[in-house]
Amino acid sequence: MIKVLIATDKPFAPVAVKGIREIVEAQGYELVLLEKYTSQAELIAAVSDVDAMIIRSDKATKEVIEAAKKLKVIVRAGAGYDNIDLAACTARDVVAMNTPGQNANAVAELALGLMVYMARNFYNGKSGSELKGKKLGVHAYGNVGQNVGRVARGFGMEVYAFDPYMTDDQIRLAGATPLHSVEELYATCQYVSLHIPATAETKRSINRDLLQRMPPDAVLVNTARKEVIDEEGLAQLMEERLDFKYITDIAPDSDRFAKFEGRFYATPKKMGAQTEEANVNAGLAAARQIVNFIEKGDKRFKVN
Ligand code: 3PG
Repeated sequence: MIKVLIATDKPFAPVAVKGIREIVEAQGYELVLLEKYTSQAELIAAVSDVDAMIIRSDKATKEVIEAAKKLKVIVRAGAGYDNIDLAACTARDVVAMNTPGQNANAVAELALGLMVYMARNFYNGKSGSELKGKKLGVHAYGNVGQNVGRVARGFGMEVYAFDPYMTDDQIRLAGATPLHSVEELYATCQYVSLHIPATAETKRSINRDLLQRMPPDAVLVNTARKEVIDEEGLAQLMEERLDFKYITDIAPDSDRFAKFEGRFYATPKKMGAQTEEANVNAGLAAARQIVNFIEKGDKRFKVN
C-alpha cells in the first residue's frame, strides 16, 4: 500500500488535513500525520517507509531524503522550495514539486494587513497615515506579487512592479506600472513589498545600498524570506534613518531590530499562508499532485 506522510511542524487547519485524507484514502493509499514535531530526528524516523510526502517550510535536508528509502515524490504545499535539498532528491530519483499560487491570496492579504498595522501605529490610538495615494513597489510580480497589487489597488495605492522574468506588457496587463531595475523600484516607492524567492543570487541582495534609495518615510514589507535581507545593512540604515520602517512575517535572525520601537514589527510565527483557505488550496493541490504522479506519472510542478 502506498503511504503518504504529511509532515508539518506548523500544522494545516484540520479541514485541510480532512480533505487531504479523503483524496489519499479514496485512492486506497494510507495517510500518516506528523505534526508539531520538535526535532529533525522525529522527521527522519517518520519518513523511513513512506512513498510520498507533503511538507510546508519543513526542512527536507539530504539526511531526510536519504532516510526516506521508498520516497518517490515530495510536495511542498506552498510556493518557496528553498527548504528542499533538490540535489539530494535528484540523486535519489525523487520528484520534488511545489503548488504555486495556491496560498498567494493569503500572503497578499497579510502583506497589506501589515502595512495598515504599521501605518496606524500598531493600533495604539495615535494619529497615523493612510495607504491611499502612496506608491507601492512590488519586487517580483508572480502569483503573490500580483495578488498584492490587486489588493493594494483596492486601497488606492499606485502600484509599480519590477520583475526581470516578465515583459512590460505582461506587468501592465496584470495591473502594475513596470519599472526596469531594482534600483528604480526602490528609488520610486515609499512602500516596497518583497516577493522574491531565496536563491543563491537573491540571498542578502536587499542590502543597505538598495534600501537607502527609498524615499522619506520608507516602509519595507517582507512576507518572502528573511534570507534575502542583509539584516546587518538594514539595521545600520535604520540607525541612521529614523524615518525607515521594517515589517516582516519572518522573524529576523537576531534581536538587532528590537530597539527600533514603533518602526519594526515581526509576526510571532510566519503566518502569511496560515489561513484555512490557503491550507485547503495548497494541501489538496499537493495531495492531487501526488496521486496524479503515482497513478499517471504526471510531473507538472516538478522543480528538480
Ligand atoms: C510559501 O513559500 O508558500 C510560503 O512562505 C508559506 O510557507 P508556510 O507553508 O511555511 O506557511
